[in-house]
Amino acid sequence: MKIDISNFSERYIVRRMEKTDLADIYALCSQNSLYYQYCPPIVTEQSIIDDMRALPPNKGADDKYYLGYFDGEKLIAVMDFIMAYPDEKTAFIGFFMTEATVQNTGIGSRIIEDLCSYLKKIGLSGVRLGWVKGNPQAKHFWHKNSFTEIGVTYDTENYTVVVAQRIL
Ligand SMILES: CC(C)(COP(=O)(O)OP(=O)(O)OC[C@H]1O[C@@H](n2cnc3c(N)ncnc32)[C@H](O)[C@@H]1OP(=O)(O)O)[C@@H](O)C(=O)NCCC(=O)NCCS
Repeated sequence: MKIDISNFSERYIVRRMEKTDLADIYALCSQNSLYYQYCPPIVTEQSIIDDMRALPPNKGADDKYYLGYFDGEKLIAVMDFIMAYPDEKTAFIGFFMTEATVQNTGIGSRIIEDLCSYLKKIGLSGVRLGWVKGNPQAKHFWHKNSFTEIGVTYDTENYTVVVAQRIL
């Protein structure tokens, strides 16, 4: 299934992020200290480069989109999006973060709403993601955006991930 990332948002410009965007991504991420308390280690430029390349099992780079959302020139959100994972009809959000100074104004929800309506339009049936168990901000945000736990968790060295899904 082909996707067009320019249709991901009605309101913001969406484009793939490159190495030249590293400083801006780092600036956005490093303000979100709560996230890294639950999901250590704290962000570095190297960890962003690693995330830009990271792929789930059995996926290729073709389905990987490490995206920036821009309000004019200003980077307001970053998303790691994987198409067709864990199955053909499901998309996966590996990471989503908004710029700290614009949080709690509905921007994150707007981005997720627009994304879900586009993915539904092109025939997907669900979006899957995970949050770190105990992170109140992430849990509240994803529940508010109609994601519900599927009853699966998995442990990493430093934390437990709660898997959730939204049916489109
Ligand atoms: C989660 C996140 C993406 C939400 O973005 P946003 O632009 O603030 O989204 P919205 O304004 O649409 O919604 C934010 C909601 O979180 C709630 N919230 C914010 N901080 C919170 C906290 N510490 N505990 C509980 N809820 C919290 C807000 O009250 C709001 O919910 P409400 O409208 O019911 O009051 C943003 O906070 C963020 O980037 N956090 C760090 C990264 C992260 O946790 N990403 C998600 C996990 S992958």
